[in-house]
Amino acid sequence: MKLGILISGRGSNMVALVDAVESGEISNSEVVVVISDRSDAAGLAKAEERAVETLVIERMGRKRAEHDGEIAVELKARGVELVCLAGFMRRLSPDFVAAFPRRILNIHPSLLPAFKGVDAQRQALEAGVETTGCTVHYVDEHLDNGDVILQREVPVLPNDTVETLSNRILHEEHIAYVDAVRKIVVSG
Ligand code: GRF
Repeated sequence: MKLGILISGRGSNMVALVDAVESGEISNSEVVVVISDRSDAAGLAKAEERAVETLVIERMGRKRAEHDGEIAVELKARGVELVCLAGFMRRLSPDFVAAFPRRILNIHPSLLPAFKGVDAQRQALEAGVETTGCTVHYVDEHLDNGDVILQREVPVLPNDTVETLSNRILHEEHIAYVDAVRKIVVSG
């Protein structure tokens, strides 16, 4: 299965996926392109180090549908069959979602439907929950919505800061995303 990964920043989930494809942990797959909407995304260099093609497609004041339409054209041109959002900080237009039916995944640092949107780890700390985690889900045109594929739980510890909690969740995100993509590749 040909994968395309969209990023906006650090790219650690993208690296987890690329490395799992490379090691064969996710078999019969290839990451054919990593696309960032930001030219300063640190993940771009990490993809290049791994010899994955990278593209920067910035919004540049355009309407959402025009911007993600250009991204969809590049994905389709490379035969991408599964789109993985990995810290991609933009919502997708209905046309983009329709172009890849049930073939767009996202990872979010909470147990959805709890704590949608930005700063999910801070939201969990402020809510005083004892358990949070991460979710891999199908993407629709609504924010952090769509059917859940899998979740991993993480305890919230008494002295946690946003940083310590985020790091604990991130460790589970990398496992969850690889598991979810493997599951989809296996089921075709
Ligand atoms: C992760 O916490 C992910 O759940 C959220 O954005 C962050 C991206 O981190 N959607 P990275 O760029 O994959 O390191």
